[in-house]
Amino acid sequence: MPSRYSVNPSLGVRVKKLGKILLAICLLLAAAITFTIGGRPFHRPRARATTNRQFERTPERLARGRYLVVGLVGCETCHTPKDWNTHGAPNLPGMELAGQLLPVPSLPGTVVASNLTPDPETGARRWSDDEIARAIREGIAHDRHTIFPMMPYNAYRTLSDEDVASIVAYVRSVAPVRNPLPPTRVDFPVNYLIRSVPQPLTTPVSGPGPQATPAERGRYLAVVGCDCHSPEDQKGPIRGLEFGGGQHLKGPWGEVTSANITSDHSGIDYYDEALFLQVMRSGYVKARKLSSILPLGEFANLTDDDLKAIFAYLRTLPPVKHRVDNSLPPTYCKLCRQKHGAGDQN
Ligand code: HEC
Repeated sequence: MPSRYSVNPSLGVRVKKLGKILLAICLLLAAAITFTIGGRPFHRPRARATTNRQFERTPERLARGRYLVVGLVGCETCHTPKDWNTHGAPNLPGMELAGQLLPVPSLPGTVVASNLTPDPETGARRWSDDEIARAIREGIAHDRHTIFPMMPYNAYRTLSDEDVASIVAYVRSVAPVRNPLPPTRVDFPVNYLIRSVPQPLTTPVSGPGPQATPAERGRYLAVVGCDCHSPEDQKGPIRGLEFGGGQHLKGPWGEVTSANITSDHSGIDYYDEALFLQVMRSGYVKARKLSSILPLGEFANLTDDDLKAIFAYLRTLPPVKHRVDNSLPPTYCKLCRQKHGAGDQN
């Protein structure tokens, strides 16, 4: 009588063969990934140890931090639940920076923008200043997991040390909100692949100095504020299409593709400074209503001076020929390799 534990010999051989084939596939895959994007996915992400530095909460920093968080850098787009039924998607009252499960169906898994308010149990009360600063510019969460790179920490890397200190000071000053949320769970294999994204910052970062021209100041602001307008593929921003539009954005605001904001004819060559300010303040280009994913509520807080600087910078960009028209049905675009309105005209 064969024992319960014996296996059909031919099955045994087949299982062994299959095992070998699987092993070979895994090794090949590992080699391919290591070759293309490095060995990082198999290790923990690159991270520096945090220090116990504390950012003094001066009135200047609180004001600057508020200006950046509520205005340009768009933390609230993800970390504050919004009323998507109103043009401009205002914040839900009493929920500033309280976090949310992101209402974006195309994400690989459950992606939750953390509760950043100083609530002791469900928020950031116990995280150190440097843990928050590291999360913003280096993509490592307080518990050292890789932050899903939808949070634009690679763009935020360019924020100056002083601006990050101001953002942290402001975030720590908002009212605590108890808002329990599930943890982020990113599907396999994306959860491994994203580990190569975070890069530690080990040298000081300064912003534009007092001598900077409007265009130089505008560049600093546009890199952290307008990153949705640079399309990306799996390897990051697509070279040659910077600010040329093409990021596909789908969620409770509808389905749109970000616009080309360079001065090419397919972009916004017809804008002047006055029209740019009017669009950023109203959410309308003349009679055309813009999607609420453009963070109008936030950009409305920007000073005229900063908006003019951003416009001056946009005018210095090389024109990118890339037609995106959200009023037309989506068709394949060979430039950004996705489907969007007028894609077939590129
Ligand atoms: C496009 C969406 C988006 C924007 C904009 C964004 N975040 Fe996040 N943020 C997230 C998501 C999603 C996570 C959590 C991801 C994860 O756990 O993998 C996160 C995580 C964090 C964390 C880490 C929390 C932890 O557990 O340690 C901090 C701190 C943070 N964000 C602060 C900010 C600040 C400050 C800003 C603005 C300067 C900002 N974020 C802008 C989406 C965003």
